[in-house]
Parts: sequence; structure tokens; C-alpha cells
Amino acid sequence: MTTILITGANRGIGLALATLALKRGDKVIAGCRNLESAAELSALQKNYPEHCSIIELDVVDEQSLENAASSLREPVDLLVCNAGVQNGYSGMHGEENTMAAFEKVLVTNVASPFFTTRAFLPHLRESSGAAKVAVISSLMGSQAHTAANAYAYRASKAGANNIAVTLSHELASENIAVATYHPGWVRTDMGGPNGDISPAESAAGLLDRFDELSMEQSGLFINYNGDKLQL
Ligand SMILES: NC(=O)c1ccc[n+]([C@@H]2O[C@H](COP(=O)([O-])OP(=O)(O)OC[C@H]3O[C@@H](n4cnc5c(N)ncnc54)[C@H](OP(=O)(O)O)[C@@H]3O)[C@@H](O)[C@H]2O)c1
Repeated sequence: MTTILITGANRGIGLALATLALKRGDKVIAGCRNLESAAELSALQKNYPEHCSIIELDVVDEQSLENAASSLREPVDLLVCNAGVQNGYSGMHGEENTMAAFEKVLVTNVASPFFTTRAFLPHLRESSGAAKVAVISSLMGSQAHTAANAYAYRASKAGANNIAVTLSHELASENIAVATYHPGWVRTDMGGPNGDISPAESAAGLLDRFDELSMEQSGLFINYNGDKLQL
């Protein structure tokens, strides 16, 4: 049985990943920063009391990461760094482009995959199989994606990709594969109602990709449908 730790598992893609992973028989440790706003996740946990646990985890709070990691006493086979934020799609002069917004988006999307992986590295090392880390990024972070908007978010996902590549190098000697993924344009709070695919469709593709992840794919940027993407 695979044990998957997912950050930001209370809604959107994270909740869909948790739901599908439980349905297919995996064990899920669902990270959520505010248990009071996790009604759907709590209901899911009640349906899978043996296989699902919820941990309080704010991925931009070092103390929260430390508390979550020290309270977790089981190996993790797959860590999914999914939690993320964005701050709108304007061009340069959009009012959302404040220093504070940049700080929030960059810290959440770039720094948190690093700090989350570091916090749970001892649990990944305890995996009896080949441990893996999946960073949920976005095509918007690719240098090949031509558009003139969403400066902070694009920069943050480019940064997340870079973090994943560097982690893949540092963890190669421990046979821990790290890759970064585009989940598709997904109908979530972040993706909006016009997205191409449902959270369940995205989760199905992503879980297939995570199953395939090996040391040969470590350091790559991969679409939910399996296409290789340019970093
Ligand atoms: N939807 C898309 O089309 C799309 C496309 C490309 C990439 N992505 C990426 O996919 C990931 C999931 O996106 P989504 O569409 O599911 O977004 P979403 O519906 O807005 O959900 C975001 C999740 O991240 C959590 N989160 C944010 N900051 C956090 C923090 N500091 N600590 C812990 N959890 C935190 C949220 O928790 P709260 O409920 O507490 O806020 C929520 O669970 C993100 O990394 C996003 O950038 C999404």
C-alpha cells in the first residue's frame, strides 16, 4: 500500500487527489491548514477511517511544518506539494501587483515545496519502496509559455520548477525521485468555472504520472496527460 502525503488537501486538486487515492486503496495523509474549513475533507476521512488521516499543516509556517512532521510517525512513499496561491491575471499595472502579494505568492509557491520536502525527508527515507516527491506547478511557469500577465504567479511556478530540479539533484543519491507537474486547467476555486477539466480528471492523470515516476524522470516537468513540458 502506498502512503501519500498531500498538502492543501481540503479543496480543489488536492481534495480530488486524496479522494481518488483513497478509492484505489492508497493510504492518504491529508494536509490542511485550517481544520475548521475542511468539512469535505473531514467527511472523506470518516469514510476511510483506517486509510485517511488529516494533519494540520500550513506550508508557509516553519513551526507548523515542524509540528506536523514530528507528530507523523509513519513512512511516506509519495509527497505531493500541491498547496498554492495566485493573485490574479493582470498585466504590469494590475492593482494586485503589490509587494505584499508577490511575497505571499512567491513564498507559498516557491519556498513551500522546499520546506515541505525538507520537513518530511525523514519520512520519505523510511519508505520501503522508492520514495517520490511531486511538485504541482503550472504551465504558466514555463519559459516557453508566451503571455503578458500574472507576473507573480508565473515567476512563482518557474521558481517551483527550479526548486524541484535542484531537489532532484540533491536527492538523487538517496534514490528519491522529484518531478514537477502541470495539472491541466482545472475547474477549481483557482482555475475558475471555465477550466478544461474537472478536479477528478486532473487527479486521475496526475496519479498515473506519479505511479510512473522513476529516477529516469527525476527533474522533469510533466503534464497531467504525460506530455513532457519545457521548464
Ligand atoms: N486549477 C488550475 O487550473 C491549476 C492550473 C495549474 C496549476 N495549478 C496548481 O495546482 C495546485 C492546486 O490548485 P487548485 O486549483 O486546487 O487551487 P485551490 O482550489 O485554490 O486550492 C488551493 C489549496 O492550497 C491550499 N493552500 C494555500 N496556501 C496554503 C498554505 N499556506 N498552507 C497550506 N495549504 C495552503 C488551500 O488551502 P485553504 O483552503 O486553507 O486556502 C487549498 O487547499 C496549486 O499549486 C496551483 O497553483 C492549478
